[in-house]
Amino acid sequence: MLAILGGSGLARLGTLAETRSISARTDYGEPSAPLALGKLAGREVLFLARHGEAHNIPPHQVNYRANIRALKDAGATRIASVATVGGIRREFGPGTLVVPRQIIDYTWGRPATFFEGPGAKVSHIDFTEPYSADLRAAILAAARACGETVADGGCYGTTQGPRLETAAEILRMERDGADLVGMTAMPEAALAREAGLEYAAIAVVVNHAAGKGDSAVAISLAAMQAVQRQAMARVLRILEALARS
Ligand code: HPA
Repeated sequence: MLAILGGSGLARLGTLAETRSISARTDYGEPSAPLALGKLAGREVLFLARHGEAHNIPPHQVNYRANIRALKDAGATRIASVATVGGIRREFGPGTLVVPRQIIDYTWGRPATFFEGPGAKVSHIDFTEPYSADLRAAILAAARACGETVADGGCYGTTQGPRLETAAEILRMERDGADLVGMTAMPEAALAREAGLEYAAIAVVVNHAAGKGDSAVAISLAAMQAVQRQAMARVLRILEALARS
């Protein structure tokens, strides 16, 4: 079953029909919100608000392990993550939708693995390609099917937050090869891989990253929200096409 992990601007799926709320509990604690099980475009999907229904859980305090485990326990086999990001690469201006292909992890101190704790054996995952190729292709096909333009590829640099970055940090990330900057791809993507779930993302660019474009001097938080509101309608159309596929 498809699960949708909604980020900022997508705390609920208004178009989800016949919804049932599942209060999940896992060995890692409770997920960010009750899971919503319902129908999108006539297909059963799960929805979870990454930052909570009231958008009150900051990126560094999201219980990523409980979120991934709860989705798996509820029957998810693939997770489409929606996340707002800043654009570092020039072409990735506000309003651009991107299906990233790579990740650089700049986060710290977040519980980041299921492979620890009493009785756990030392285990590793292959993470060369952090996103599922099949699910990425399905999202790109869904976007084509509903006429939405989506950029294929790019490297998502994941910062700790909740503050935005300095201009110098963005320049360093650009030298590293990051095209986008957000705060939630890690450890989420790695935990999904550890749990054996397909995982891919729709990154919604809501601002030029610090020091870039019209964020040369400062980032306008009000402008970010306006872009986010407009872009989420397009994301919803893609998710409906994805559910249908
Ligand atoms: N940086 C980090 N996370 C973000 C940004 C940003 O500029 N915009 C939206 N999420």
